[in-house]
Amino acid sequence: MYYQPGKTNHGLPRDPFKSCVIPRPIGWISTISRDGAHNLAPFSQFQNLTFDPPYVMFASNQTTKGRKKDTVVNTEQTGEFVWNMATYELREAVNKSAEEVAPDVDEFELAGVTKAPSQIVKPCRVAESPVHFECAYHQTIRLPGNGTMGTVDIVFGRVIGIHIKDEVIGPDGCIDVLKIRPIARLGYHDYTSVESIFQMVIPGNDKRRLEGMEGSARF
Ligand SMILES: Cc1cc2nc3c(=O)[nH]c(=O)nc-3n(C[C@H](O)[C@H](O)[C@H](O)COP(=O)(O)O)c2cc1C
Repeated sequence: MYYQPGKTNHGLPRDPFKSCVIPRPIGWISTISRDGAHNLAPFSQFQNLTFDPPYVMFASNQTTKGRKKDTVVNTEQTGEFVWNMATYELREAVNKSAEEVAPDVDEFELAGVTKAPSQIVKPCRVAESPVHFECAYHQTIRLPGNGTMGTVDIVFGRVIGIHIKDEVIGPDGCIDVLKIRPIARLGYHDYTSVESIFQMVIPGNDKRRLEGMEGSARF
């Protein structure tokens, strides 16, 4: 099959686009409003961008009413956000935190998760999550789109503090991903979790290239 998005019909019962770029890691983002309301929401249009220094991004479409989402408003107004790792154990809380509610609703309470203070930034971390990034807002790029939800705000942040629970660091000093079981979005309403790992190393022994592949920064 072949189709041109926005021009020709894919002819399938459901739009296949989001089921093509998979699995997508989840940016479970906590922020705090100017008035001090604690906000938490998942974004599967999320990625790390580079490692030295580390940057991440999440892409937020508009609300069903065509407004900027609270996570973006809070990040832009306060200059800070926190990324929390979404795990299989926390899947129901992740989903609950996606409800479209008023900006003053405490979404940690809504999702039934515990607030842990951050070291540098004001937004709290999800205590139950094994890994957190404290982030400083860098910039937003807005891409125009169709309908009330199509326009997207791509928010970039620099990672300035990283928390990893000791219990998920294995004896080899590496993060024990199979113990954590991070979840990721597939298309439709489908998800997956990491349950197997395989390794490959780029041929040759160019030390710098291999360090780049691992993402080894100076400290
Ligand atoms: C797993 C998951 C992934 C999501 N990914 C996105 C996304 O990438 N972009 C987006 O705009 N909304 C996404 N949503 C919907 C938002 O989480 C939802 O609109 C939420 O209410 C936004 O909250 P806020 O207004 O407090 O920022 C996702 C929802 C779920 C459950």
